[in-house]
Amino acid sequence: MTPAAAIALPRVIGHRGAAAVAPENTLAGLRAARDAGARWVEFDVRLSADGAAVLAHDPTLERIAGRKARIGRLTAAALAAHAVPSLDDALALCAALGLGANVEMKYCGRRSPALARAVAAAIRRAGAPPPVLVSSFRPSLLLALRVAAPAIPRGLLMSRLRPGWRGRLRAVRPAALVCGARRLTAPDCAALKATGLPLAVYTVNDPNLARRLWLWGVDAVITDDPGRLVGADRDG
Ligand code: G3P
Ligand code: MG
Repeated sequence: MTPAAAIALPRVIGHRGAAAVAPENTLAGLRAARDAGARWVEFDVRLSADGAAVLAHDPTLERIAGRKARIGRLTAAALAAHAVPSLDDALALCAALGLGANVEMKYCGRRSPALARAVAAAIRRAGAPPPVLVSSFRPSLLLALRVAAPAIPRGLLMSRLRPGWRGRLRAVRPAALVCGARRLTAPDCAALKATGLPLAVYTVNDPNLARRLWLWGVDAVITDDPGRLVGADRDG
């Protein structure tokens, strides 16, 4: 892996595993994505109290377990009891299932650099990790990852194209771009693809929208329901 290594993304990436059909960001979700035919999954990571990267979207357990406890205040072992897996376990499962992993680092305030280091360490520990793309909305997190492990491919996440996005790209030197679908236009896609980088778009659950995005040059759609979209490029 080199910093500029090209990364090949599949047409369909499961979002938070396969959030439409299995609990999000769980090992069961990763298996469900694979069963639905996905070749890659996206999942979110945060930092546990004892410094492990764990799979979680929100800063608290409230939405997934009805408890207000903060992810960052619980140990990885305590979180595992709520079906919140460690990144180590998720990467091991992805490798076993032949799934690529888009690891999205969530902003954790002052602990964000520690999260980037924990992600780098988990990928290093994985030995023969699955293909990975580590993404974030926060350039500071991607820069912390670059310091910790320059060879891990980085993905620059943008909810939409704002003025100044090219400056962010120059700073981060990503291997791929990940952009929100909501306001994305064909000219936006053309501009993003003109960078020469692979482009993934989230969250796309409608096969017609997926087909339009693929026609616009989007490489991968990130979807809650991979079973609906795998093969959609052949049906329409
Ligand atoms: O990584 C793409 C997408 O997951 C970003 O939004 O809020 O679902 O993590 P969110
Ligand atoms: Mg995410």
